[in-house]
Amino acid sequence: MARKKTILDFIRMKKEKQQVAWITAYDYPMASFAEQAGVDMILVGDSLGMVVLGYKSTNPVTMEECLSHCKAVRRGAPNTWVVGDMPFMSYQVSDEEAVFNAGRLIKEAAVDSIKLEGGVRVTSRIRAIVDAGIPVMGHIGLTPQSSGQLGGFKAQGRDVKNARALIKDALAVQEAGAFALLVEAVPPEVTAFICDLLEIPVYGIGAGPADGQLLICGDMLGMFQAFTPKFVKQYANVAEIEINAIKTYVHEVKEGIFPSDEHAYHVVEPMEEFEKMFKEFKK
Ligand code: KIV
Repeated sequence: MARKKTILDFIRMKKEKQQVAWITAYDYPMASFAEQAGVDMILVGDSLGMVVLGYKSTNPVTMEECLSHCKAVRRGAPNTWVVGDMPFMSYQVSDEEAVFNAGRLIKEAAVDSIKLEGGVRVTSRIRAIVDAGIPVMGHIGLTPQSSGQLGGFKAQGRDVKNARALIKDALAVQEAGAFALLVEAVPPEVTAFICDLLEIPVYGIGAGPADGQLLICGDMLGMFQAFTPKFVKQYANVAEIEINAIKTYVHEVKEGIFPSDEHAYHVVEPMEEFEKMFKEFKK
């Protein structure tokens, strides 16, 4: 079992140009599979709202839901760095609420760090949480919680004006004390520039090569059927495997194929004794 990585490992890995590979997980089995597969870290993203709770966006996700999923992931991956996502409205109102809610993820769910969305406009939140001793990961580019303001789930930094704003966001997040930055849905050229500019590790999702890559487990494993973003590479089609397995089960139950003798518990006393007892009920 590999040793759990720390912030120092992530900084060293950037310096040594070693890639960080990570995925999201939302429950005990997925976290355990991810740890067994050797991911460097796990994000319990608020994407859980869409991938496992069936919401239309991430915005309805509550602190209680995040806490519950973070706890399950912690149990499934005790030796992996876990990033707990701050859900919409858990940090937007004030620094105090942001510190309180980040603290809940650390204290109650034992995650290793938190992630929140935004650049320049959330620097005081990042600073306040870091000042409380909690490692913070920033998240810029396509920030799903503010996708309404962005005009939808759209790639960012594609023109010079937008890319300049993105680079200012990246610098602001580093300056505020974040230990790492996630960049989502940004052209590879802009990501490469940010990776070079920042001392902290910069990870990408749909952003081309970076210091590491994140994918959403539901997308990469073919478990989320509503849509698949352009940047996703699907490594398996779990939905197909599960649907086919359940179809076979339904068929076997209806045809009397399942359960067969090999799936039964057997009596531990002579059958004649049972038959005598059965007769008592029929009198
Ligand atoms: O919630 C999440 O999984 C995320 C990713 C989209 C980066 O924040």
